[in-house]
Amino acid sequence: MSIAKLIDLQTIHDTRGNLTFIQNNYFKDFEFKRIYYLYDIPYKSERGGHAHKNLKQLIIPLSGSFDIYLNNGFTEEKFFMSDPSKGLLINNLVWRDIRNFSSGSVCLVLASELYNENDYIRDFDEFINLVKK
Ligand code: TYD
Repeated sequence: MSIAKLIDLQTIHDTRGNLTFIQNNYFKDFEFKRIYYLYDIPYKSERGGHAHKNLKQLIIPLSGSFDIYLNNGFTEEKFFMSDPSKGLLINNLVWRDIRNFSSGSVCLVLASELYNENDYIRDFDEFINLVKK
């Protein structure tokens, strides 16, 4: 079983271009309380490097591409993200590293909770001890 779920977002294609939308009656995995985005990401920059105790996230490559490496303490999985009509649903207690950002890429994140530093696990050994308990 996969660590995370790639979700097809509702998308309208027409001759003027594509439109993708996310609303809570279709996307039922969580109600998002916060949205943030990463952009102007320098070459070879790495993001993530943490897990969350409770937070769930949906990550969407709005532009360009990047790799998301996940680890749930038991298995690892890599997702290549390049399609803005698909979001990766990452549950709590999953370690994530985001790397290999292409030039000009934009990473959109919908989060189930407000920002709370106490929800972060930033030490990998602490994460492993917690999930293996
Ligand atoms: P962090 O979540 O570690 O970034 P990423 O996982 O994308 O690499 O956050 C980087 C910094 O920004 C950290 O000091 C916390 C701060 N921050 C906020 O203040 N609010 C937010 O909503 C987020 C996501 C981060």
